[in-house]
Amino acid sequence: MASSDRFDTLLSEIRTFAPPSDFVAQANFSDPGIYEIAAADPEAYWAQQAGHIDWFSHYKTVLDWQPPHAKWFVDGKLNATYNAVDRHRLTSRKNKAAIMWEGEPGDSRVLTYDMLGREVDRAAHVLTSLGVKRGDRVAIYLPMIPELPIAMLACAKIGAIHTVVFAGFSSVALKDRIEDAEAQLLITADASWRRGSVVPLKNNADLAVEGTSVQRVLVVNRVGAAANSQMREGRDVDWETAMAAAPTSAFPAAVMDAEDVLYILYTSGTTGKPKGIVHTTGGYMVGVNTSMRTVFDLKDDDVYFCTADIGWVTGHTYIVYGPLSAGATLVMYEGAPDFPDRERYWRIIEKYGCTIFYTAPTSIRTFMKWGPQYVEKHDLRTLRWLGTVGEPINPEAWMWYNEHVGKGRCPIVDTWWQTETGCAMIAPLPGITKTKPGSATHPVPGVSARVVDEAGEPVALGQGGYLVLDKPWPSMLRTIWKDDERFAKTYFGKYPGVYLPGDGARLDGDGYIWILGRVDDVINVSGHRIGTMEVESALVDHQSVAEAAVIGRTHDVKGQAITAFVTVKEGVTTGDELVAELKAHVVKLIGAMARPEEIHFTAELPKTRSAKIMRRLLRDIAEGRAIGDTTTLADANVIEALKLQYQDREQ
Ligand code: WT7
Repeated sequence: MASSDRFDTLLSEIRTFAPPSDFVAQANFSDPGIYEIAAADPEAYWAQQAGHIDWFSHYKTVLDWQPPHAKWFVDGKLNATYNAVDRHRLTSRKNKAAIMWEGEPGDSRVLTYDMLGREVDRAAHVLTSLGVKRGDRVAIYLPMIPELPIAMLACAKIGAIHTVVFAGFSSVALKDRIEDAEAQLLITADASWRRGSVVPLKNNADLAVEGTSVQRVLVVNRVGAAANSQMREGRDVDWETAMAAAPTSAFPAAVMDAEDVLYILYTSGTTGKPKGIVHTTGGYMVGVNTSMRTVFDLKDDDVYFCTADIGWVTGHTYIVYGPLSAGATLVMYEGAPDFPDRERYWRIIEKYGCTIFYTAPTSIRTFMKWGPQYVEKHDLRTLRWLGTVGEPINPEAWMWYNEHVGKGRCPIVDTWWQTETGCAMIAPLPGITKTKPGSATHPVPGVSARVVDEAGEPVALGQGGYLVLDKPWPSMLRTIWKDDERFAKTYFGKYPGVYLPGDGARLDGDGYIWILGRVDDVINVSGHRIGTMEVESALVDHQSVAEAAVIGRTHDVKGQAITAFVTVKEGVTTGDELVAELKAHVVKLIGAMARPEEIHFTAELPKTRSAKIMRRLLRDIAEGRAIGDTTTLADANVIEALKLQYQDREQ
């Protein structure tokens, strides 16, 4: 939503909301002094936060910063799973519910910290028996079932590096990630449930592992006979059987260095090849744990519900490592918000008595479209904190969320962050910050953000520019897996020593930050980050396609929708049939979330004289705006023809 329309709405946004007084009275942080204390000495602030993590041996130095490489809590030793699970088993949290799981067809399972710990230990024994060692990579391709966090935590317990691949990705996308990470084990399920139908995960996995480094496949039985999957003798191992055969003894937590890799998570960038974002153990655990107490205002009696999928970073940080490290009770839901009906989320909140609810703006816009009647049928009085993440939230959606879900009683916490940042970077502190609908407000304590111009100079109040984070923070990515050069260039290449997230932002007259959206060739569809180049590569992979240009068009519900402009090869007949075929091809190569909403055939694409596709002009066409500056076009007729063609289509 980086369009000028949004810019105009922002300029006129004057509503402010003070934190609700009942909330302030119980907030973990209600003294604004925390900002100054953290800013005066960020390292001392982070060192203090590190005291909430259990270390096997204390670090020697808080930060070693050799831009672009950071080491946090140097020589400190710890284990992420020990912090997320085992330490709570030694306290009164032992029999506290850790994960309350709600399955899509209505089945449910509650795991206390002690039960979770025992499952994780068994899984750690299973991984070890399959030859997984410290530092090995384990790919995980599972739906939202308890075995997913159990598998991740088991990896972390033995010091193996997990790379979770969202279960909506295709077999081709899974294979790419397995190959890049050189994973030796894959953990998957026979199939998964999605809106009552069966999604064939194991069949995808079989295609993906062929010819890769994967030696063994561990298979959870989720669906049963309807999955129609086969086990391959000698390679595939049944999860349940292996767990039943594993020793029941505790598995000793591997003593990891603060800078040992905890996980790799792939995300889209400006090239066709996804980036393996590397997070390490110490800084990440300190960062995510801190934000639970500050941004999420977490307490021991909270019931915490984040609707993300663990396949994305939001789930890694705010379903697994954050809430569990803080000893929370969390609700984990397997299915879709509208299955079996549009009340599912509200029914879950009522059933479990959720106090904290964290979701995406695209979901809120969907709820708005459905109307408030579904929310209103449910008693949501337990809620005290509402958050959003993933994309800019438009003020109308913010207001609707506040009124219909929060009933004006809950702070609305808009959290800006990225796979790379590990945890929330720009967000209100709910007991302190005055919010404005649509603004993520200010950097959290210990984080320093600026909006700068092309030269890297901070912009004046009221101006826009590039968002940057100009100081290192504990949960920052350390590199891109096997591509440190790309890491340095992508994130620290424009302004040396300063992290460039790739988002545009604006400062308003009060110094509030308004995120405008990506400034690179990355689009955000329903909070999912998709590289235009990835979709373009998938399209040109099809035999009929000569060239493709992909853009994000502003969309009411999804934030952005994928629009593709395609030129076909000589002699190819264009039409609805080919559109359907191309969409299916993208789904096959990437996954359903990358399916183009629209495909337009064109004789030529608008290019500069140096043959660069001018996506900006394609965006103007797709959004029905006046076409911007065309002076650098090689052939101005191309754009005129496209515009006419597009208008015809719309009528
Ligand atoms: C991109 C990161 C952070 C977890 C989910 C997405 C956009 C994220 C916000 C927000 C405006 C946001 C940015 C960012 N984004 N949160 N609150 N307001 N934009 O993680 O897949 O790494 O995507 O999502 O454009 O760069 P991701």
